[in-house]
Amino acid sequence: MTYPHAGAARPYLFNDRTVEGYRRAMAAGTERVAERIRRADRPFSGVSPERLAPEIAAIDLERPLHDHAAALDELERVYLRDAVYFHHPRYLAHLNCPVVIPALLGEAVLSAVNSSLDTWDQSAGGTLIERRLIEWTAGRIGFGPAADGVFTSGGTQSNLHALLLAREEAHAIAGAASSRLRVITSEAGHFSVRKAANLLGLGPDAVVTVETDADRRMRPAALARELDRCRRAGLVVMAVVATAGTTDFGSIDPLPEIARLCESAGVWLHVDAAYGCGLLVSRRRRHLLDGIERADSVTVDFHKSFFQPVSSSAVLVRDGAVLRHAAHHADYLNPRRMAERGIPNQVDKSLQTTRRFDALKLWLTLRVMGPDAVGELFDEVVDRAADSYALVAADPRFEVVTRSPLSTLVFRYLPPEGPSKLADDANLYAREALAASGEAVVAGTTVDGRHYLKFTLLNPETTLDDVAHVLDLLAGHAQRYVDDLAPLADHSEVTHVHS
Ligand SMILES: Cc1ncc(COP(=O)(O)O)c(C=O)c1O
Repeated sequence: MTYPHAGAARPYLFNDRTVEGYRRAMAAGTERVAERIRRADRPFSGVSPERLAPEIAAIDLERPLHDHAAALDELERVYLRDAVYFHHPRYLAHLNCPVVIPALLGEAVLSAVNSSLDTWDQSAGGTLIERRLIEWTAGRIGFGPAADGVFTSGGTQSNLHALLLAREEAHAIAGAASSRLRVITSEAGHFSVRKAANLLGLGPDAVVTVETDADRRMRPAALARELDRCRRAGLVVMAVVATAGTTDFGSIDPLPEIARLCESAGVWLHVDAAYGCGLLVSRRRRHLLDGIERADSVTVDFHKSFFQPVSSSAVLVRDGAVLRHAAHHADYLNPRRMAERGIPNQVDKSLQTTRRFDALKLWLTLRVMGPDAVGELFDEVVDRAADSYALVAADPRFEVVTRSPLSTLVFRYLPPEGPSKLADDANLYAREALAASGEAVVAGTTVDGRHYLKFTLLNPETTLDDVAHVLDLLAGHAQRYVDDLAPLADHSEVTHVHS
């Protein structure tokens, strides 16, 4: 449909007179995505930024197409054709899950209705639904009736929010200056903890990392030593951040021991369960989170292990009263008198103002599938990761770091001989070459200064055959590097696939 005359923009507004256009546009969009998903025979096309950037740069944003179908055709070329598809069983890279259909339905509904969850008067039932889900999640954690929380954009924001509350509590209790505040986490903790400390104006030395054991779990003895050292140095530990599901190793810090140390030192315990929160609905593995109920705050990322589309995360606190540290009452939006009258304004608890009704996705997931079904999907990927570990551990081509209680696998190809730099370069090359082929996507990381490859299994559709096939592909690329490319390189730099 084209609208050549002046005032032609009106039909694009979504309202009672344009619902037919809305139906058609949404159906067309859904159809494109459905076809892409149905036809995707690999997780990625292997496109390089150099090839794609000119196509996007060439589009004249001043000249609209006036047509949904034409815009979707163009989108095929600049996005859908080359997107990275997390639903594909050989996408094994980062903490991106395939998503469940009830959540996609929620996404479509929430963006069309477009509630904003800052205030009751912009959301009504949306606010109450979010509150029910916070209550439900707090119940799964094992918090008592005083618990509360709020949905956030992701684990990074949830961690920042929790540490803001911890800092304010430390100021209130100890009156400590920011430069004396410390946050203790493990070597395997997420970088967002350090980012949060920076944003909170703590000094460059504020985050102290303590060592992990062979399974990459925080050592309680090292934590005890650090707590003691800080106390003797006149420093105030404002929070210990334990991780329930470290990004690289899926390791879960020993929560009961850490909770005991925090309780006896009077220190705020934050549990970053961005990844491990899927265990909250696991019937077989919930016990791995034992001790989480003793935390002061918890991060959960439904968009990692609850099969939810980005974004869907929450921060929860054992004592809801602490959320007041993030509150600000603006006359135009949420004046104090509203709080006094009990009007539920979530902005009183959130770092954001205008905020998506992301909770609706989880709501529809629970209402259609139920929590056990989500837990079963997560249990399946954890099972698959255990089988994959056994596969790699028995394969002489590879060396594996540790057995994850969740669903990651960190390993590397070991060339039959050669310096350790050769192994580094071969693994770096293998990862890149595999992504360029598009046949599979895997991640990488460093362990003790050496380059490793990483699988993050979050797709129950990934079979052990898929894993074995990707291992063969990686070994093939790595050995090709050793045989053909390394002799040509001076070893000062790995040969890049796109260079
Ligand atoms: C343990 C952990 N915490 C926090 C985050 C940050 O979460 P987000 O990417 O949702 O901001 C991640 C992301 O991978 C994570 O693995």
